Amino acid sequence: MSKKENQNSLANNYTIENFSEHHLSDVLKIESASNLTPWSQEIFLKTLQSRSISFVIISEEKVIAFCIANTVLDECHLQNIVVIEELRGKGIGTFMLNILFKRAKLSDLHTVLLEVRESNKRARKFYQDNGFEELSVRKNYYKTKKGRENAVIMRLEVV
Ligand SMILES: CC(C)(COP(=O)(O)OP(=O)(O)OC[C@H]1O[C@@H](n2cnc3c(N)ncnc32)[C@H](O)[C@@H]1OP(=O)(O)O)[C@@H](O)C(=O)NCCC(=O)NCCS
Repeated sequence: MSKKENQNSLANNYTIENFSEHHLSDVLKIESASNLTPWSQEIFLKTLQSRSISFVIISEEKVIAFCIANTVLDECHLQNIVVIEELRGKGIGTFMLNILFKRAKLSDLHTVLLEVRESNKRARKFYQDNGFEELSVRKNYYKTKKGRENAVIMRLEVV
């Protein structure tokens, strides 16, 4: 199956819902299984108060992936994106970025910005493959088990 066919089949098989409080328990479970320093419930709730364009992907009534993003002036800030571990590498992350780009365009946002751990090579490649470029490095931005690590700031111009 080509990448385009794969993306079409994902669109037919999964439901997209705007992120809201009733997704929280599923989202928290996915987050704690996926991130070294998982976001708390409070942080997720806060994202709902800002100008959020966040959404979740549902399969068989369960959240299998989520994308948290908000807007600042004419920029979209991608804050968190996760696919459950057993479904990674099947195009769902790319599917979510494509949805985000469409939503950003509809909201007249011109730039998508994000920060990613320098050590998260997979995510950095994933973003690069989807058109992001590395802008700069923010020193010692993230906590690690042993100390701190840099954040790489990435940007994509929405076309
Ligand atoms: C990063 C992430 C959201 C990507 O989602 P995904 O559904 O695996 O992405 P895709 O299937 O669209 O993969 C895109 C590419 O990334 C690579 N890739 C990224 N993560 C991968 C993984 N865990 N396993 C296999 N391949 C992966 C693949 O090589 C793929 O390349 P291809 O299109 O040439 O096959 C997902 O891996 C994830 O949830 N990671 C943990 C949380 C995380 O690090 N989030 C980013 C924080 S900034």
